[in-house]
Amino acid sequence: MFKLVLIWTCLVIGEAGEVNGCREQEFRDRNGNCIACRQCGPGQELSKECGFGYGEDARCAPCRPNRFKEDSGLQKCKPCLDCALVNRFQKANCTATSNAMCGDCLPGFYRKTKLSGFQDMECIPCGDPPPPYELLCK
Ligand SMILES: *[C@@H]1O[C@H](CO)[C@@H](O)[C@H](O)[C@H]1NC(C)=O
Repeated sequence: MFKLVLIWTCLVIGEAGEVNGCREQEFRDRNGNCIACRQCGPGQELSKECGFGYGEDARCAPCRPNRFKEDSGLQKCKPCLDCALVNRFQKANCTATSNAMCGDCLPGFYRKTKLSGFQDMECIPCGDPPPPYELLCK
């Protein structure tokens, strides 16, 4: 009896990753074979979804503006960091293959240091009165 349950469990798990006969990262070609989805290089992503047996005509397309992808692979382009939004200078612009890099806080803003020693990504206004030990706010 225990053996039967084990076999049944294996069958269910084996099928869980497949819909339409193909796996998550596969499409079905004209002959009905499951083929691995195309992987796009840095700065590019698939123009259509691919997987679970769909997407055979998907092509690689450049990341849209303000998005980037550093590596080759199946992942999508990600939104670039917006330095203005976190009140910091821009050290490097975003490109299709690299994220933007932010520099120091804009004048009148400071970054909190967390207990872990890391600093927050976002700079916050010094306020009135400014926090007493923040050099950036003097
Ligand atoms: C980012 O791009 C803008 C506009 O093209 C340019 O004026 C600026 O100098 C660039 N900044 C850096 C850090 O390269």
